[in-house]
Amino acid sequence: MTKIGEIQISGKVALSPMAGISDSPYRKITRRFGSAFAYTEFVSTEQILLGNQKSIDMFRFEEMERPIFFQIFGSDLNTVVEASKRIAPLKPDVIDLNMGCSVSKVSHHGSGAGLLRNLKLAGQMIEGMKKAVNLPITAKIRLGWDADSLNYKESVHILQESGVSAISVHGRTKAMAYTGKADWNAIGDIKSFAKVPIFGNGDVTSFQEAQDKIRTYGVDLVLIGRKAIGNPWIFSEREKQDLPFSEIRKVVIEHLLGILDFYPSEDDYGLILFRKHFSKYMDGISFPSELKSELLQTKSLTTFLKLFSDYEPDQNRTIIETVEYSENMNCETYLAHR
Ligand SMILES: Cc1cc2nc3c(=O)[nH]c(=O)nc-3n(C[C@H](O)[C@H](O)[C@H](O)COP(=O)(O)O)c2cc1C
Repeated sequence: MTKIGEIQISGKVALSPMAGISDSPYRKITRRFGSAFAYTEFVSTEQILLGNQKSIDMFRFEEMERPIFFQIFGSDLNTVVEASKRIAPLKPDVIDLNMGCSVSKVSHHGSGAGLLRNLKLAGQMIEGMKKAVNLPITAKIRLGWDADSLNYKESVHILQESGVSAISVHGRTKAMAYTGKADWNAIGDIKSFAKVPIFGNGDVTSFQEAQDKIRTYGVDLVLIGRKAIGNPWIFSEREKQDLPFSEIRKVVIEHLLGILDFYPSEDDYGLILFRKHFSKYMDGISFPSELKSELLQTKSLTTFLKLFSDYEPDQNRTIIETVEYSENMNCETYLAHR
């Protein structure tokens, strides 16, 4: 059990926040499958204050998603504090400050990982948010801006002094973006001196591996990002490739219908949004590539549902490892869609 302020978190593995992925439809599925809590996608504090409805809608959630962490990003103290006040009445359990997004449109303007170069400001943000709202405040960091400026010790000390209730650590620098390997020794080092719960993150590929990281590095909880896309079973200790296709199909259809319900639209917007998930759901399982391509291209929901529901698995087919549909899989997804 991990305590974040008065919030109790049972469970040791959770879905990492991912723009374009960790929206309410997917959070609901992952919570049901065992994710310990839910993070929203990151949302711009500037857009919150401008009253941008699309941004505010990203905070819609259902009770079963709780504990729910609203994640925000920004580079201006007043904007971040005021935006926190604006969203507190939506009743999140926690507000989380993003200090890890590496894409230049965010970090080079001082938001996201840009805050790693201005820790004084990050500390003031946490302090200001804490005073402004009666909620626990957490932060998600990287190890530093680049290999020559690893400042995670200083980050953790400043955030703790400012009153943060927990810190998530993606074990890479901003400069690494998603290249190289996450440094779990550095995450373990943080855990050894931190006074608040530490959530470790980076390159975890299975529930078992998450348990190993907890044992080896002592972290309170592990966040899984990319390997949880199209694989909510990762939170339930079950291997997707061992599941009967009927079970995968059920979840795929539930997820698609959840998206259509959450983003109502006259056209095929929901189906298009679902494509990145669908592509990943079919990763690593036996499914004909021609049918996968057809399903990724159709603009008709009826066609999608019919073709997908009628498909009868052929036991002798080989596993698909390739991803035919791709887009920028990082926090830039948010900027692309909104
Ligand atoms: C598509 C995508 C979107 C992401 N969006 C966010 C975000 O909104 N907020 C955040 O803190 N991290 C974001 N991240 C980073 C992940 O939360 C996580 O820290 C990173 O992917 C490393 O974990 P992993 O190796 O398990 O994927 C994003 C990552 C991806 C791949």
